[in-house]
Amino acid sequence: MNKLKFALIGCGRISYKHIEALIKNKDQAELVAVCDLIESKAVERKHQYENHMPNTNVLVYTDYKEMIESSGCDVVAIATESGYHAEHALYALMHGSHVLVEKPMALSVVDAMQMIEMAKKVHKKIAIAHQNRFNPPIQKLRRAIEEGRFGKIINATARILWTRDAHYYEQAPWRGTKALDGGTLMNQCIHNIDLLQWMMNSDVVRVHAERGTYMRPIEMEDFGALLLRFESGAIGIVEGSACVYPKNLEETLSIFGEKGTVVIGGLAVNEIKTWQFEDQRDYDLLDADTQVDSVYGSGHTPLYKDFIDSIHADKEPLINGLEGMKAMKIILDAYEISEL
Ligand SMILES: NC(=O)c1ccc[n+]([C@@H]2O[C@H](COP(=O)([O-])OP(=O)(O)OC[C@H]3O[C@@H](n4cnc5c(N)ncnc54)[C@H](O)[C@@H]3O)[C@@H](O)[C@H]2O)c1
Repeated sequence: MNKLKFALIGCGRISYKHIEALIKNKDQAELVAVCDLIESKAVERKHQYENHMPNTNVLVYTDYKEMIESSGCDVVAIATESGYHAEHALYALMHGSHVLVEKPMALSVVDAMQMIEMAKKVHKKIAIAHQNRFNPPIQKLRRAIEEGRFGKIINATARILWTRDAHYYEQAPWRGTKALDGGTLMNQCIHNIDLLQWMMNSDVVRVHAERGTYMRPIEMEDFGALLLRFESGAIGIVEGSACVYPKNLEETLSIFGEKGTVVIGGLAVNEIKTWQFEDQRDYDLLDADTQVDSVYGSGHTPLYKDFIDSIHADKEPLINGLEGMKAMKIILDAYEISEL
């Protein structure tokens, strides 16, 4: 099978995870081009790839349109500022590429729907980087959910107790802005909100929200709390902070059902803290805990694999546009009803 040719737009903080994922999926994919407005950042990613993949020559661009049109790529990965995702994704789709886009997929429902509709129209695929869905403990939990082992789910909690200091925001002035990022709910907490809503297997019918800007020099919130009512009747609670003293504390997802309790914690939902069910299954004792080198976890590699497989098999990736839109929409609804 031919290797899929990938091109990357946006070579900032998260981009090394995309390169790492391509290196680890080297039998099925290759990086042909990288692009950043700041050329040196693109060159850094080129070197990261070539150091692991001898005899390759990754092209460097500063104009993403030129890269899409001339690099011969099959797939465009987008890791630019969130407010630009829609523009970059639409251009890539219209020029014949599949698109793998960082979270949040967009910053408005209109933009997200345009991306989904364009992908459908041009028969290309789109996947969103909610990579924590691939964490082994999360996959194990999802299996228990699909097997109905919780019985009725009563409530679930997502806690994101992290810190982002002033330097993090000063490094890149788009962070924390309404136009290009959103606050900590949209940037950091969206992963766990996505996991919570995924495990509930039910649409959100009501959102309550409180948020504020307590410590960081930003336009949007650095702390937010959500209360979600699901169609099933279950209730979800989200506690999301970028202000925890003195450093990242935990990212935890807890699910409470009539016949089961699961708590997955660690720095980035990577360790099973509680696993209790009324019934027993052979996989209960299997260890699914993982080490993480950062809060980004290790999910980009299986995310890429899933996307590559979906392209080859012409099936939907695990996190397609409609899936990717769900957590984004919950947060946009929260923004609509809560003041800073
Ligand atoms: N999945 C995750 O865990 C995760 C983690 C961090 C960030 N992200 C997401 O990834 C995206 C990027 O975040 P970041 O922290 O890496 O940002 P960053 O500011 O470090 O990098 C963004 C890069 O995009 C480049 N860029 C902007 N417009 C461009 C254009 N037109 N052409 C080429 N390059 C362009 C910028 O020059 C910059 O280098 C955001 O959407 C963010 O929410 C996801």
